[in-house]
Amino acid sequence: MQFSIETSSPFNPKGGRAATIAPTDCVIVPVYAQRKLGPAGQAVDALLGGALIAALARHDLAEALNSVLIVPGNDQVARVLLIAAAKAESADPAGQSAAAQTPRRRGKAASVTGPELHRIAEGAVVAPVSERAFSELSRAAFRAANTTGAKKLLSLLAEVPVGVERARPLAWNLQAQVLSAHDATYRFDRLRSTTEPRHEVGAIALAVPPADATAAALALRRAQATAMGVTLARDLGNLPGNYCTPTVLANEAKALAKRHGLKVQVLERKQMQALQMGSLLAVAQGSDEPPKLIVLEWRGGGRSEAPIALVGKGVTFDSGGISLKGGEGMDEMKFDMSGAGAVLGTLAAIASMQLPINVVGVIPATENMPSGRAVKPGDVVTSMSGKTIEILNTDAEGRLILCDALTYVARFEPSAVIDLATLTGACVIALGHHHSGLFANTDALAADLLAAGRDTLDTCWRMPLDDEYQEQLKSPFADMANIGGRPAGSVTAACFLARFAKGYQWAHLDIAGTAWKSGAAKGSTGRPVPMLTQFLIERADRNSTQAHAAKSPATAAKRGPKPPSRGPVRAPRDGA
Ligand code: BES
Ligand code: MN
Ligand code: ZN
Repeated sequence: MQFSIETSSPFNPKGGRAATIAPTDCVIVPVYAQRKLGPAGQAVDALLGGALIAALARHDLAEALNSVLIVPGNDQVARVLLIAAAKAESADPAGQSAAAQTPRRRGKAASVTGPELHRIAEGAVVAPVSERAFSELSRAAFRAANTTGAKKLLSLLAEVPVGVERARPLAWNLQAQVLSAHDATYRFDRLRSTTEPRHEVGAIALAVPPADATAAALALRRAQATAMGVTLARDLGNLPGNYCTPTVLANEAKALAKRHGLKVQVLERKQMQALQMGSLLAVAQGSDEPPKLIVLEWRGGGRSEAPIALVGKGVTFDSGGISLKGGEGMDEMKFDMSGAGAVLGTLAAIASMQLPINVVGVIPATENMPSGRAVKPGDVVTSMSGKTIEILNTDAEGRLILCDALTYVARFEPSAVIDLATLTGACVIALGHHHSGLFANTDALAADLLAAGRDTLDTCWRMPLDDEYQEQLKSPFADMANIGGRPAGSVTAACFLARFAKGYQWAHLDIAGTAWKSGAAKGSTGRPVPMLTQFLIERADRNSTQAHAAKSPATAAKRGPKPPSRGPVRAPRDGA
C-alpha cells in the first residue's frame, strides 16, 4: 500500500468552489452530526454539483456511527465514500439545523477545544471524537473502500478533530489512518495454495492543509514504519510452529539486519553452554529444534549513549513440555513467540525511521517440547546468574528462558530493559484482552510506557510487584521454584523475573492477553509494537532535547557532569 500526503484542495483554504482534486477513484468524506459536511467535504460536494448534500438530505446514509454510503461521482472523482463520524441525530455543537450547511465561525462553540485540527476544519464547528472512535472510523472507511473497485483513494479524514480530553495533533490523526488502513487490509494467506482474488486499494493519499505539509510528511514516514513493524510482528506470530522455528526466527533477524542496517549476532547452543545459560538450555533440551539466542543492535544514537534493551520471549511452540498442556486450543501456543515478534517488529520500525536512539534486542528462542531428554518436574537447574531453580512445572518455561536473557543483557549496560512475553494465562484472567500487564521496578519507566500505550491505543495496566509475593517462590531444594501457585499467577511470574533484573531499570509486559486474538478473528495483533515504537520515539526526542541543552554553554556550565542514568532503582509502587 502506497501512502502520500496531498496538500492541494479540498483543504486549500482558498479552494472553495474552485476545488481541484487530482483524478481519484474514491474520496473518503466524513459526515458529522446532523448529516453535515465539513469544509473539505463541502468542496467535494460543490465539485459534484451538490450530489453529497442531496444524498444526505434523502437520509441515504444510515444513522449509526461508521455507516457508509458510496455516492457515484464524475470523471474526476469516480465515487465518494461518505462515512458517519457521528450518529446522525446526535447534538450539533454549532447548534445549526441540518439544512444549514453554511460554515460558521469557530468562536461560536466554546465547548470545542483543540486548535490544530479545528484549523483544518476552519469555519466548521465539529465535536471532537475519541481516539478509539476515530481509529474505528478509519478502519471502517478503509475496509469499505477495499470492497469497491477503487485502487486510488483520497482520504479527507484528517479533517476530523480527535481527542475529547485533549486535542490530538494532525500527526496522531495520520498515524491512526495509516495503521487502520493496514489493519483493514491485512490478510495472512501465505500458507494457502489458492487465494481469492481481491480488489486492493493500492494508493492512499491523505489530504492535509498545505501549511501542515512538512509535519505531515514526517508523521507519515513514522506511521508507515510503525505499520510495517506491526505487520512483520503479525506475520511472524501467525506463522505456525512448523514454519516459525528458532532457526527461522534467527534467519528473519539476519534478513532484517541486512535490510535496515542493524548489527546481528546469533548465539548457538554451544555458546549458551559457554555462558552457562542452564535455565534456557533446560527448556531447549527436550526439543529437536536447536535453540537460538538472537542479539540485534540498532545504533542510531550517540556513541556513548546507553541503549534500551528489549527482550522478547521466543517460544516458537509451547506444548508445556512434560507438564503437557491440554489439547484444546493448544494450536494457539504457536503465538508464544509474540514477544520475539514484537522485538523484531519494533526494531524494524525504528531502524526504518532512522530513529536517533540506541536499542538492543535480545530474543531467547526455543521450543518447549516433551521428550526422553526433556527437563522434568523437580529438576534443579543453574541459571546464568548462578541462582538455582527448581522446575516444578515445565510449562512455566517463559520465565526460565527470560531469566538468562535478562542476565545476559546486563553486558550492554542498558539505561532500561523491557521484556515482552506471553507469560501467563493468569494475566489474561486478570486483565482480559484489553491491557497488557505492566510490571516495573522503576516508576518513571512505568509511567512512560503507560503514556505510550495510551497514545497508541495499545494500552497496558500496572500490576504490583511487592516483595510479599516473592514468598510464593520459595523452594525446599533450590534458590527458588519456577512457579508460585495459583494466586496472583502473573505477579509471581513477574517476581521471578525481577530477581534477575535487579541491576537496571526494568519493566515487564505480560502480553498473553493482547498479542493475539482467538475465535473467528484468530490471529496475531502485532501488539505491543505501536506502544514500544512510540515509547522509543519519545525517548529519542528527549535524548536530543537533552543533548541540545547540554551543548549550549549556558546550561552545560550550570549542569555539571550528567549523573549516570543507571544505578539504584526505586522501590516498586503497588497498585496501578
Ligand atoms: N505461554 C504460556 C502462557 C499462556 C497461556 C499465554 C495461555 C496465553 C494463553 C506459558 O508458558 C504458560 O504455560 N504459563 C503457565 C504458567 C503456570 C504453569 C504457572 C500458565 O499460565 O498456565
Ligand atoms: Mn508454558
Ligand atoms: Zn509459554
